[in-house]
Amino acid sequence: MIDVIGLSKIFNIRINGAKVINGCENINFSVKEGEFLSILGPSGIGKSTILKCLYRTYLPTKGEIYYESSIFGKVNIARVPDRKMIVLRNREIGYVSQFLRVIPRISAIDVVLEPLLLKNQISYKEARKRAEELLFQLRIPEYLFDAYPSTFSGGEQQRINIARAIIWKPRLLLLDEPTASLDKESVEIVLSKFLKLKEEGSTLIGVFHQEEIAKSISDKIYIMK
Ligand SMILES: Nc1ncnc2c1ncn2[C@@H]1O[C@H](COP(=O)(O)OP(=O)(O)OP(=O)(O)O)[C@@H](O)[C@H]1O
Ligand SMILES: [Mg+2]
Repeated sequence: MIDVIGLSKIFNIRINGAKVINGCENINFSVKEGEFLSILGPSGIGKSTILKCLYRTYLPTKGEIYYESSIFGKVNIARVPDRKMIVLRNREIGYVSQFLRVIPRISAIDVVLEPLLLKNQISYKEARKRAEELLFQLRIPEYLFDAYPSTFSGGEQQRINIARAIIWKPRLLLLDEPTASLDKESVEIVLSKFLKLKEEGSTLIGVFHQEEIAKSISDKIYIMK
């Protein structure tokens, strides 16, 4: 489903003159449909950069990212026009960022159900029911459902972000350290949700810091050195 070939991202920045920073260099891996691939490696090695290239937050400097999409057939994410990438993001590809950006003054439940309203064309009432179910499963206390996530704990915010990403069952889900702020019990609940998504046919690529988490959940591990 995904073939990453010779992917590199170089940043040209200006601090006291021009500097070149290697985001990631010569990355090669493949992922089959329905697989879970984990990416492991030390801080600063370029894990988030790879995911951002896959989601096209970053335009790769070199290399190809072939993706077998269901809407357009085979596309090269490294070169696909922006308007097609927007359609892919809206319809097929989900992303959970490493650092949480909560939307101000929107309640937790509305943050979670919004993708359903935008993508699945169901009523607010039905979307809310499904979002509540998911938040219960992720052990978010009910009194927080209508509160603003900006005041939530790190782990609560992370679970809201995950709920928003999995509720619409994207075909491909990119996860950047989705369990970093969670306690052991929450990690297990979240991992079981990812596995359920996989059983239902989704393909997942996740960056993890703890090797044991990566080993417990993935079919393949890509190690960066
Ligand atoms: N937008 C950017 N502009 C300039 N440099 C960047 C940018 N994004 C990433 N980098 C640099 O690219 C390198 C890889 O960063 P990246 O965030 O991919 O690492 P990482 O493996 O995800 O690290 P961590 O485990 O700490 O999250 C770092 O040296 C970082 O400073
Ligand atoms: Mg990172």
